Amino acid sequence: MESVSAASLKKEFLDKKNAEADLGGGEKRTEAQHQKGKLTARERISVLIDDGTFEEIGKFVLHRSKDFGLDKEHYLGDGVVTGYGKINGRIVYVFAQDFTVFGGSLSETHAEKICRLMDLAMKNGAPIIGLNDSGGARIQEGVVSLAGYADIFYKNTLASGVIPQISAVMGPCAGGAVYSPAITDFILMVENTSYMFVTGPNVVKTVTHEEVTSEELGGAMTHATKSGVTHFVSANEVECLLNIKNLLSYIPQNCEDDAPRYPYTLADESRPSLNNILPESTNQPYDMREVILELTDSESFFEVHQHFAENIVVGFARIAGRSIGIVANQPAVLAGVLDIHASQKAARFVRFCDSFNVPLLVLEDVPGFLPGTDQEWNAIITNGAKLLYAFCEATVPRITVITRKAYGGAYDVMNSKHIGADMNFAWPSAEIAVMGASGAAEIIFKREIAQAENPHEKLQEKIQEYTEKFANPYRAAHRGYVDEVIYPEQTREKLIRAFEMLENKVDVLPRKKHGNIPL
Ligand code: HXC
Repeated sequence: MESVSAASLKKEFLDKKNAEADLGGGEKRTEAQHQKGKLTARERISVLIDDGTFEEIGKFVLHRSKDFGLDKEHYLGDGVVTGYGKINGRIVYVFAQDFTVFGGSLSETHAEKICRLMDLAMKNGAPIIGLNDSGGARIQEGVVSLAGYADIFYKNTLASGVIPQISAVMGPCAGGAVYSPAITDFILMVENTSYMFVTGPNVVKTVTHEEVTSEELGGAMTHATKSGVTHFVSANEVECLLNIKNLLSYIPQNCEDDAPRYPYTLADESRPSLNNILPESTNQPYDMREVILELTDSESFFEVHQHFAENIVVGFARIAGRSIGIVANQPAVLAGVLDIHASQKAARFVRFCDSFNVPLLVLEDVPGFLPGTDQEWNAIITNGAKLLYAFCEATVPRITVITRKAYGGAYDVMNSKHIGADMNFAWPSAEIAVMGASGAAEIIFKREIAQAENPHEKLQEKIQEYTEKFANPYRAAHRGYVDEVIYPEQTREKLIRAFEMLENKVDVLPRKKHGNIPL
């Protein structure tokens, strides 16, 4: 009898401890969290992870600090919930900072929990997801907390390219704390409740005398549109968590793995509506997303970095059930020109896809690089080179479709065959040349035009001549730079076949420690 009662006492004790840990910083603080429109760490995990699959690790961990009254204030778990579970049946590791415990601030033990999780994720080859909501370094702990951050940064870097790392910022993320999400592959933010900055509005005011709110300085839309720091913006936390689930559906568990494949039965894959997307005049814009939607499996396009550098579109999609990454010039914005931000955006995406075996499709309609002092002084040279380098280095299957313009250096950069594309298709509307016909005619026929009786007429005649000679895909096709000139309606079918043909592609880069991408 006695032993039964001892056992039941022990059970009661454990139940109490579990309940205490589940409560985080207590009901009042949970209520405050909800009033800000935010979920708690555990609520977030329950939205993210498949029902009944979450296993917590380190639930009863306590901090070891004794200064500033911390010896009397302990919360089980120490402000971060860590564990593993499944998303759509696939293992992931997740940590969720609990703002109700010391503002989610990072202590020595809080950092240790995250690091242990990262080690497990690395050893077992599965994605790690961080749900960040933290006041930063645990102020009472001083340098010990800073050391904890550094440990995380170091592990983030080692894990980069090995397992996918995803960071959702769902509250404050300030100071050096921003650098962990920044090293990870994708950042997601929530409108009005999350912000990221290295120094907050008060310091900004003191140093630069600028008056700026947290939202303006480092809110979700700021980082989505101006800095490009965040890849996704969500209207609320649930949407943000669902975005993470969706994102994972396109990517593999680790760098040795392939992305999940969705069942697909081939049918009539011709898409006649593609014949009507390009406008009459080559200078008129059109929305490249329309082309993407026709080429990819229905409702599979998932755009990344949607609000940043809109002159280039990047994102994941599926083609006959297989995950691909798309990089597409966007003629509807700045005529699809390549500039610094577009190059940075696309280069980062190409490197992600290459790291994780996601084949690349490039849709090309690019008039060239953006001219101007702003671009030159801010290093379009170095930044354009990033994109060039990223493509050159990519060993995944790579296919390009030139829909219209492929001019100048941008022709080379946008996944040309010369830098390793496996297949290059062009529509009959493609114009592959050093520059646009009118610019070209003005330069090479300058004297002839100047001496002509009617210079305007002469110019038009020369433009026509240049257009007929070069503003088409056939010169490139004669050389084999374009593998096939195809009717737009055939494109999806051609892509399905070509990606299938490239499915077992193996390409190896020269042995090296690592390359030196122009940063
Ligand atoms: C310890 C902290 C804390 C921190 C917040 N809290 N931040 N405890 N260390 N860094 C505690 C508060 O004391 C409070 O405890 C609870 O968390 C909630 O904080 P509030 O201020 O009441 O919340 P709110 O008004 O929403 O403001 C959130 C906040 C603010 C903007 C994050 O708390 C804040 O400014 N905190 C300090 C931020 C900071 O300077 N951190 C250090 C940055 S430097 P109670 O008991 O009342 O609930 C840094 C370096 C990292 O992080 C370097 C890495 C290399």
